[in-house]
Amino acid sequence: MEKIKETAGFLKGKTNFEPEVGIILGSGLGGLVKAIDVKHTIEYGNIPNFLSSTVEGHAGKLIFGILEGKKIMAMQGRFHYYEGYSMQQVTFPVRVMKMMGVKNLFVSNAAGGLNKAFEVGDLMIIRDHINHFPENPLRGENLEELGPRFPEMSETYDSKLIGKAKRIASQHKIKFQSGVYIGSPGPTLETPAEYKMFRIFGADATGMSTVPEVIVARHMDIACFGISIITNLAEPSEVDKPTSHEEVQNVAETAEPHMTLIFKELIKDL
Ligand code: HPA
Repeated sequence: MEKIKETAGFLKGKTNFEPEVGIILGSGLGGLVKAIDVKHTIEYGNIPNFLSSTVEGHAGKLIFGILEGKKIMAMQGRFHYYEGYSMQQVTFPVRVMKMMGVKNLFVSNAAGGLNKAFEVGDLMIIRDHINHFPENPLRGENLEELGPRFPEMSETYDSKLIGKAKRIASQHKIKFQSGVYIGSPGPTLETPAEYKMFRIFGADATGMSTVPEVIVARHMDIACFGISIITNLAEPSEVDKPTSHEEVQNVAETAEPHMTLIFKELIKDL
């Protein structure tokens, strides 16, 4: 709690900003930043109690600015469990967001498509998630001032935002999917048997992020909305080459403008 307050205090002092929207941008999905009227950019390395992001393609910057008339704070690059961080470390920025005033969280990620109807480059509006990490970020002593011991998870992704996102996509003739995201620790991509297992679980897409952040946001009653960009397909029989990190990034960059448009329109209308 002290660390959260210290970091939020530092950022408030530096920016004199009270953001109402938080944004977390995944691998190759930083294009939304171009649409932001940036007021302050702070590298993670210069923020007390923040970690520095290590993954290729993750810039590691906190951006404060105006997007569609709303005060936002955006993470360009996130912390992943596979980097070796604890769940509390991975989700620390979301705690700070709440302390700064954030009421809505928008997240994006690159994900592998499990649903057989999906194609590479598809955009999936996250309807629900499965926590397949080996732990939960809320494990341990509960800080009552942040949220309840046993958070309710029946509407983890805000149904109003989902409804609006679908309307926006249809209006702009953007093809979209909607489905369940399963978050797993990585850093290995899945074996064919694991992809099959995830499909049997009822998931439509799989990735290595988002779930911890959204759990912590919901703990603090922040409304969440998420989009996965399907960067590869988990269909062993049809896959002619294995998934690479480079492939994931290229596809993410191509599909990104549609996601940016949906985020912008949703934020405009908050
Ligand atoms: N599995 C896990 N994470 C991913 C994948 C995948 O296939 N694609 C992009 N992130």
